[in-house]
This record gives sequence, structure tokens and C-alpha cells, in this order.
Amino acid sequence: MRDSLPSFSQLLERRMSRRDFLQHSGAAVLGGVVASSVLGRSAAAQDAVDSVGGQFTEISKNVSASHRVAPNHVVDVVARWGDHLISPWPFDIYKMTADEQKWRFGYNNDYIAYLPMQRGGESSSHGLLCINHEYTNAALMFPPDAYSEQKRVAIEMNAHGCSIIEVKKQSGHWSMVLDSPYARRITTHSAARFSGPARGHAHLRTLDDPEGEYPKGTLANCGGGITPWGTVLTCEENFDAYFVGRPSAGYVNYYERYGIGEKPTYAWYKYDKRFNLAHERFEPNRFGWVVEYDPYDPHAPLIKHTALGRFKHESATVHQNPDGRIIVYSGDDQASEYLYRYVSNGAYHADMTVNEARRLLEDGVLYVARFAEDGTMRWLPLVHGQGKLTAEHGFPTQAEILIYTRLAADVVGATPMDRPEDVEVHPKTGSVFVALTMNKERKEISAANERAPNLYGHIIELIAPSHALGGKDHTAEIFTWEVFLLGGNPEQSSHNASYLSPVSEQGWLANPDNLACDNSGRLWICTDGQYESIGANEGVYAADVDGSRKGSSRLFFTAPKGAEVTGPCFTPDGTTLFLSVQHPGEGSPWGAFTTTWPDLQNGVVPRPSVIAITHRKDKPVGSA
Ligand code: FEO
Ligand code: CA
Ligand code: CA
Repeated sequence: MRDSLPSFSQLLERRMSRRDFLQHSGAAVLGGVVASSVLGRSAAAQDAVDSVGGQFTEISKNVSASHRVAPNHVVDVVARWGDHLISPWPFDIYKMTADEQKWRFGYNNDYIAYLPMQRGGESSSHGLLCINHEYTNAALMFPPDAYSEQKRVAIEMNAHGCSIIEVKKQSGHWSMVLDSPYARRITTHSAARFSGPARGHAHLRTLDDPEGEYPKGTLANCGGGITPWGTVLTCEENFDAYFVGRPSAGYVNYYERYGIGEKPTYAWYKYDKRFNLAHERFEPNRFGWVVEYDPYDPHAPLIKHTALGRFKHESATVHQNPDGRIIVYSGDDQASEYLYRYVSNGAYHADMTVNEARRLLEDGVLYVARFAEDGTMRWLPLVHGQGKLTAEHGFPTQAEILIYTRLAADVVGATPMDRPEDVEVHPKTGSVFVALTMNKERKEISAANERAPNLYGHIIELIAPSHALGGKDHTAEIFTWEVFLLGGNPEQSSHNASYLSPVSEQGWLANPDNLACDNSGRLWICTDGQYESIGANEGVYAADVDGSRKGSSRLFFTAPKGAEVTGPCFTPDGTTLFLSVQHPGEGSPWGAFTTTWPDLQNGVVPRPSVIAITHRKDKPVGSA
């Protein structure tokens, strides 16, 4: 049996032997310069943040009922669950209706995209915020006995999806612009269409849509991405929770692999038959996709891009390769699921129309990641006819590979990961950072997942080889990988935590989840799970990715009790950081809330909200 808890020195040793392998085998050229580490830092490296505005002063870990932020920073609440998008219509928790919720800010805000007011523009004080609403929590939304189950379900269905709001910074503070022509709610009922190779496939057809081309709505919208042509990708994650019933004979394996079965987490199936497998056996196949919408065109339908595969898509991080091809990185956020990459066949050109450009998401190759102990990783193509991806193994065409992507990835031998959540491509180095939140179920360590069980999560750095045109070639078959940090307390040996530079008592973190990069090059890390794993409110940390402080995370912001922080998003100039505070007060009983954030008054409920953080002197967020 393998040692399930390697010591820190063993981990370092393993990393060193990987580096030796790379240097001696010549494989190092694959990844260009292998990232510096605690053993090989450049002492002369410049710390970019020092030249921008210095480092913020860290705050302390805490279990406060309110948020906390680093000194010299200001927090504005931009939109709360229930805020009306059109008029200043007061929110009354006893008088909610589904029709009204359709124009009110949705529940449990998650991913945030900021797009300047003009498509392709640069404004950092006026733009559109495109926000996901991942799930609802009836226990915190509805006063006991105030609504029938049917009314609750109808409100919940309209509190899912996305909100598009216009926001403006005036006199140093951000607020929502009411009655904006761009104001829009996307819900479980919105018009949508499929694109790509699986469009119209028999397993996407339902009674309401016999052609399998027009799915209805989106749900479980977690992470996302922004395309170079100014549209937004929203990812459908935990869609299995909405369905009930037994899959038809012959489909049990396919459905079980996605967790779709008897369990009714939501009561939706009682009032909308499409969520009951006895009525619609293929409706679950119409969720689990990456969905594109155009925030500048509020009337355009959603597009579910089947070429990007179907799984519990966490993020859809878009990157333009030096040759113009479009890359989309995406994690499947569940214990022991996989990391994926999509590469378009065509190249993007800035003079393309939106309709021309989005075809790049219809025609390309989906890959899944396999990691090796020698510090390399390989992207395995999920292409019909290659290897075992044939009719004989259950994949008669490319469409089955895309609809049942998890099964195709099993067949090619992808590496099970520790809950792959957000992916971020560093704008300067081109490195790909992947947050792996945790994996309590891991029994054995594997390449790139070095603790079993993994209670504190980790971040890995993927390094693509150099491209002839400059920068990195994100289309390459082989990358190298490094551990960026192993979460947990480095002072506590049982955690087996490791950081590339010394980290303070406040700065070490657990359960990294969502990521963003700022203009100075720092990686910003939001946590999900550290309240449970280390007993501290969830936080936002910033870490340098090179120089003398590489990998040393620092605590910048903490959420109120019960809440997770998600969706970190900077304005182009870096002077505003938008954050989603999701599920404040979760776990508390009605009337005895652990927090009533953001209003913090008696007699109110906690409300998930989007906030904007700025620096008092208008410096980049994270300055001293
Ligand atoms: Fe919805 Fe993976 O967090
Ligand atoms: Ca998340
Ligand atoms: Ca991100």
C-alpha cells in the first residue's frame, strides 16, 4: 500500500526528481523554463506588485458575522437577492411572486463577468455585470408557512440562472443603474438552442422538442468565462439535483455516472414534468453544458455549445492562443472527476462578427487531462474513432462522446482529480492555474493529487511549451505541471501543507476554489470549505506567481459567516474587484440566522449579494 500522507520532504524530493527528469531527458524544453520553486528562486526577480502600489496589510482569520477587508479598501453592495432590476420596488419577503422574481436579482450569485459598456471598450467605471445564480436555499428564502410549495418552486425557478445588470461608479461608489436597456434575467425558462455536433441527437429529444434543438432554460450556473468577442459563457454544474426518477433500461450506466437517479433534492418535478424521468427520459441530457449569451443583445437566445462536452462544468476559461485558436479550459467539479480543454479548429480574428466568432465554439476538439509522475501531462483527444472511442465501446458517433463525456474520459484513461474548480490563465506568464478544492474520498495519491484524503485542497500550475509566434502554445499535446501550493497550515505537520515561500499565520489558506489574476500578476484565490476544514470564515487571498514571494498567499478579505466568496472579477484597470458573497448564513434556522448580512439588522434575512471593492485612493485593489 502506498503511503497516503507523504511528508513535506518527500513531496519536495518528488518534485526535485521530476525536475531532474525534465532536465536530463530534455523534456524541459516542452515547458520552456520550469517554474521557480522554494529550491530554485531567482533572488534578483522583481516583485511586480511593489512597483504598482505595494502590498496590502493582511487581515486576520475570523468567524465574524460581517465581511472584513484589508485596510484602505471600501466595500459597496451592488446587488442583493431580491433587488429589482428595473425600478426601486421594495423587496418584501412575505409578498414574493414568481413573476416579480423574474425581474429581481436572483439567489446565490456566483461567477461574475464585467464587460465595459461598449463591446470591446475599456471603461472601468461603467459596464455590464453578468452574474450567475447557482442554486436556491428555500430554508433561508421563505418564512415558514408563508408560501405553498408550488409557489416556492415557481419563485425558485426564476431565482436561478443569470442576471445582467448595468453598473456605474459615481463619486467613488458603485451602484446598479435601474431601468437599463441591458437589464435581463435568464432563468430556468429562457429560450435556448443547441449548437455543435450533438445538436438534434436522439438523446437530446423530448416531447416538447422532438427535434432535439431547442432546450429550455439553464440552471446550476456556477463558473463561466468571457469570450474575446464580448459574450459570456455560463456553466451548468450540479444539474443532477433537479431530476427525479429511474432512468430507462439501457441508460442506467450513463445516468448513474452523472448522479442522476431517485433522489429529489428539489420539489420541481412535482410542478414541471420535465424534471421527472418518468415523463421526459432525456431532459437531464439537456443540462450540463457550457452556455453562451450576448449581454449586449438582451433578446438573443442562449446557445448550449455541445462541442465543449457535457459534465458538471465548473469554469469555462477562454484563452486566445498565439495562432488565434480559441482555448477553453474547464473543470468537472466533483471528487475524482477530470480537467478538460477545448481547442477550436479555426482562428479568431478581431474583425469577425459575433455570429462568425461563436462558430469557433462549434467546431473543435475536446481533450481531457492525464498527469504523469515525471512532471508532464498529456491532453487526450475525445474524438470518435480514435482509440476506444468507437461504437464497440458505446460511442457510435461524436455526439455520444459529447453527451456522455464523463464516460468517454473514463475510457481514455484520464486522471481523477481533487474537485477541479476554477482555471485561470496567467496574463503575463501564460501559466494555467487550476484550483482543486478538496477530495475527502481520495484513497491513494496520484500525480498532481499528492494527499489522500485531500482535506485542504491545492493549486497546480500547468506550463505549456513555447509557441513559435511567442507566448505559450496552449494547443500542445504535452505540458508540464508543478504544485503551486498545498493548502492547510504549514505549521501543523498533519496538514502536509506546502507553500513556495514563507506564509504568515493569516496568509495560509484551505480549499482554494475560484481564481482571478490582477494587472500586477498576482493570483487571487477564493476559498470554499475552510470554515469546515479549519474553522475560519471563507476568504480571498492574493499570491505572487513569481519573484521572491512566489506562492506566498496573503489574506485580503473574509466573508460573513456561512458564506462562500466566488466570482472574483477585476475591472480592466484593476481599481475594482467585484466579488459574489454566496449563501451567507447557510445552515442557520429561520429567525436565528448566524448573520443577516449585508443589512445586519434585526428582522431581516441574510441575502446573497455582489459587492465591489475599491481602494480609498483609487489605487489598484490590493495596494498598501
Ligand atoms: Fe458551484 Fe464548483 O462550485
Ligand atoms: Ca464554486
Ligand atoms: Ca476565474
